[in-house]
Parts: sequence; C-alpha cells; structure tokens
Amino acid sequence: MITCVGIGPGHLDLTTRQVINLIEKADVVAGFDAVLNIISPVISKSAQIVALTYRNQAKELDSVGDLHRQGKNCVVAFMGDIHFSGFQLLERVEKSCGHPVQTVPGISSAQILASRGRVCFDETSFITFHRRGDLEPFKMHLVQSLKLDRNAIVIPRPFDFMPEKIAAYLIESGTEGERNVEVWENLTMREAAWTGTLAQLAEGSENTSRFSDMCIILIRATTPFPSQIFTMSEVG
Ligand SMILES: C[S@@+](CC[C@H](N)C(=O)[O-])C[C@H]1O[C@@H](n2cnc3c(N)ncnc32)[C@H](O)[C@@H]1O
Repeated sequence: MITCVGIGPGHLDLTTRQVINLIEKADVVAGFDAVLNIISPVISKSAQIVALTYRNQAKELDSVGDLHRQGKNCVVAFMGDIHFSGFQLLERVEKSCGHPVQTVPGISSAQILASRGRVCFDETSFITFHRRGDLEPFKMHLVQSLKLDRNAIVIPRPFDFMPEKIAAYLIESGTEGERNVEVWENLTMREAAWTGTLAQLAEGSENTSRFSDMCIILIRATTPFPSQIFTMSEVG
C-alpha cells in the first residue's frame, strides 16, 4: 500500500494524529530531506527511508513502487498539504505505482500564513510557482486575481522566480506598487516576516533573493473586504 500524507507546515504539533499514526506504522517512508528531518522523531527505527532529491525522485519513487508491489506499507510524505503545490509529486508517485493512491491532507503553509496575516480564504487566490514547466498561465492568473482586488498567497519558485522577481513582474504587468506585501519564512519553525510594499519588494530584483526557499508571500487587496473591516473593528 502507498499513502501520500501532508505532514503540515513544519512544527510537529501541526501534524495530524492520523498522519503521525500512518508514519509510525510505515515500513517505508519517502520524502525530501526537509520533510524527513521534520518527521524523523516519529519514523520507526526499523523503517526503510527513501530520501528524494529533485534529480533522483523518478528513480527513487520507482523503488517505492516496487516495495509497494512486494506488500510493504509505504508512506510518501509531503510538506504542508498535498493539495497546494503538491500535485506534480503526487502524479509522479502514481506513475511509479501504476494506479491512484490514497491521500491524507495536512495543514498547508498557506493556512498558517492566512492565520498570521488574518486574511480570509474566500477573498484570497492561491498560486504556486513551485513547479516544473511553463509559469506563464500561473503568472497571468496572479495578475488577473490582483486586478480583481483579491488577496493572493503565492509560493515562489526557488531560485529563479523568488519574491523580488515576482514583485518586479507584477509591477511591469500593471499591479499597483503601493500594495502591501508580507513575505514569511519558516512558518511554525524559526519564523521571520518582511513587510513593505510591492515596489519596495521589487528593489534589487536583479540580485540574489534575500529570502530562503522556505518562504511564502501574501499580497494584500487594496481595499479590505467587508468581512475584514468587521473582524478588525471587533478585535480593536
Ligand atoms: C513544493 S511547495 C509545497 C507547499 C506545501 N504543499 C504546503 O501546503 O505548504 C514547497 C514550498 O512551500 C513553501 N513553504 C512550505 N512550508 C513553508 C513554511 N513552513 N514556511 C514558509 N514557506 C513554506 C516554500 O516556498 C517551499 O519552498
């Protein structure tokens, strides 16, 4: 059996009990190093660990597919939730195993960011650039979402489309430079937040990014939606 699980945003307190149970019982646990490091305290000492890298993942996932066919209980662990910026990996797992697999959701970094930034999912678009292939359709989706004056939660692509470059692209595409932006790093772990305007974020976009690959961006709508005004005045 292969089960794909979302391990949550980083802190093990935010990994669901169901996912911890599945990892504890697994004969084989596969994932990228960043993910395996987080869940290492709950992996059984007897489990076989399959460390994925961007280069070896197809081959290593084929070996997980073989172990699954031999009757091993395999878990492939994903960062955050599988359903945000996880489907390319899920497709690779299903290709290796030859059929659809069971998935168990986790808490996404997007959910933590929405909570830190106090924005409502209903008024927010979710876009990831952390993918292989053509980014153009996703860039256009972001521009259109901002034109509709929605908030946007955006995952950059390490390291060629990082926050500064995304900001510069949006300004070139006509988005207001005075929009408020936050870039959060290592949510639920060693959190750090940068806040400013889109124009400030775009400064130095031709240089190496000041952010690590573990970052996520909140671009705010220019007008708070009625629900946000209501919530703010209630809190204040
Ligand atoms: C392949 S995407 C997977 C996203 C994941 N499925 C989720 O739901 O959060 C990996 C990227 O998500 C972002 N990310 C994941 N966890 C994060 C965290 N705790 N803090 C900040 N960004 C995070 C980073 O940009 C990271 O490079």
